[in-house]
Parts: sequence; structure tokens; C-alpha cells
Amino acid sequence: MSEMQNIQWFPGHMTKTKRQIQASLKLVDAVAEIIDARIPVSSRNPDLSKLIQNKPRVILMNKCDMANQTATKMWIDHYAKQGVTALAVDCKSGRNLNKFPAAVDSVMRERIERLKAKGMKNPTMRIMIVGIPNVGKSSFINKISKQNRAKVEDRPGVTRGNQWFTISKNLEMLDTPGVLWPKFDDKLVGEHLAFTGAVKDQVIDIELLAVRLLDFLKRLKPAEFISRFKLEQTDLDSTDSYELLRLIGKKRGMLVSGGEIDTERAAIMLLDEFRAAKLGRVTVEMPNGEMR
Ligand code: G4P
Repeated sequence: MSEMQNIQWFPGHMTKTKRQIQASLKLVDAVAEIIDARIPVSSRNPDLSKLIQNKPRVILMNKCDMANQTATKMWIDHYAKQGVTALAVDCKSGRNLNKFPAAVDSVMRERIERLKAKGMKNPTMRIMIVGIPNVGKSSFINKISKQNRAKVEDRPGVTRGNQWFTISKNLEMLDTPGVLWPKFDDKLVGEHLAFTGAVKDQVIDIELLAVRLLDFLKRLKPAEFISRFKLEQTDLDSTDSYELLRLIGKKRGMLVSGGEIDTERAAIMLLDEFRAAKLGRVTVEMPNGEMR
């Protein structure tokens, strides 16, 4: 899957993105990093810390409607132990977005107090959204700006078109997100991003990807997966993953002329259903690394 890196994120592309983020960072006091709650490791860019340096950060675990709830709690505890504030959100339904201002407030408290001590009455804090493609940045901005209609006038020094929204008293958000590039330095990262549809299927061998997903689902055994395809325990224990893909295709009547099983169609269907959480709310990566 190394070609994914070349196709989507050639070095020039990364440099441009990095420059754009650096320019926007100058305008804000804090950063909200959106990640995918199903793949909290692979959907983060480890270089972000260097970029934002010591600016306070909130992690938004988005798409929590599709992640395993226990796993999401474990991740939030894991971040808390590292002194990092994380919030599980669902930008489709808007779940938990109302907790965002308080989460930002908690990470900004020290800075606000410092400014107040210097005599500033009600300092306004500004924040921007960052994240890799498809993680839900636009969905977050749309939802939160609809909930908070008040638009702040354009400011000098801001690229034309950039706008600010008042999110809560003394908190404004930049309406343009910072796009981060995924970091494919590990084969599993590429795979996990592909499982969730964060990278384009055209650059991936779809059947191989489906087989890798089945390797994972066989181990995890989510009940929805088993019942959806009417699988038996023995199918999971003894069948190799390619055979399992054939079995799933057969059960769905996916045949080509001559009665052969159409494994490509079965692979596309499996991935579509996984991405729509029809095979259960599945978290692929755990804080202790046990599912990776
Ligand atoms: P981006 O700006 O970071 O690139 O991501 P964007 O908001 O465009 O979201 C990417 C896809 O993820 C969209 O689906 C969006 O609806 C979906 N999405 C975002 N947040 C959530 C969430 O919390 N839960 C779920 N289940 N989905 C979420 P799409 O298929 O590309 O578009 P559409 O279905 O909205 O038409």
C-alpha cells in the first residue's frame, strides 16, 4: 500500500498544507484536533505536536456513533492520564458538541487566568480545527456554526474568506480547517485508514483489503458481523479469510457466470457495510495496542 502515500500526499502537497496550517496557527490560541474514534492512532498525524508547539489542544474523537463505546471510554481515560482533554463526538447527529466549549475552556483556563491577572477583562480565545481528510472537519464546522449563528466580522491579517464564529461567550472558531496529511510510515496505518474509507479505494487492492479486514473481524468477532452473514463459530475458527470472503459472497448470492463467486463484489460489499457500521460499532485500535 506504499503507493497510497505517493498518490495522495506527495512532498509538495504536504509542504503546502503545512504552510497553510502554520499561517492559520498564528491566528489562534488553541487547536481542536479531530480524529476518527475507530482508528485513534492512524487518524492522527504525529507531526502535529511539533507544528502547534505549546498551544493548548482538545482531541475530538469523532464518528463515535460507529466506534465501540467501551473502547472510546478507554481512549478518553488514556488521554486523560497523559493530561490531554478528549471528547467523544458525533458530527452527524451533533452528539456531545454542546460539551465542546467547556472542554476548550478547561484547556484554556490557565491562559485566561493569566490574561485576567494582567488586567484583561474578558479575553476572547480563538481556536481552529485540524485533522486528516475525511475525519469530519467540515461536518464539525457546519454543525457548530449552525448551532452558533453569530458570525464575527473578517479580521485584518486573515486570508480573505476566513471567517470566525462565536461558539460561546469569549470563544471564536476559524471556519477553515487545517488539513493534516496521514502518516503512512507503518503498513497497518495505511490498512486501517483504508478500512474506514479515509483513503480512496482506487489505489488499493480491494480484495486484499477485505481479507485483512476479515482477519481482524474474525479475531474480534462482533456479534453483528456474525449474525449479518449468518456465520457459524466454526467458519471463524477454521476458515482462512479468503475462504471466508468467498463464503460471504456465496451467502449473498454474488456469483458470476459459470457459478464462480464474485469475490470482488463481496469485498466491496463487506467494506461498504463495515464503513456504515452495519457490522457493529467497531474500534480497530486500542490504547494498549492489543487490536493492532
Ligand atoms: P473532512 O471535512 O474532514 O474531509 O470530512 P467531512 O466532514 O467531509 O466528513 C467525511 C464523511 O464523514 C462524510 O460522509 C460525513 O457525513 C461523515 N461524518 C462526519 N462526521 C461523522 C460522524 O460523527 N458520524 C458518522 N457516522 N459520519 C460522520 P460522506 O459519506 O462523505 O458524505 P455524506 O454522507 O455526509 O453525504
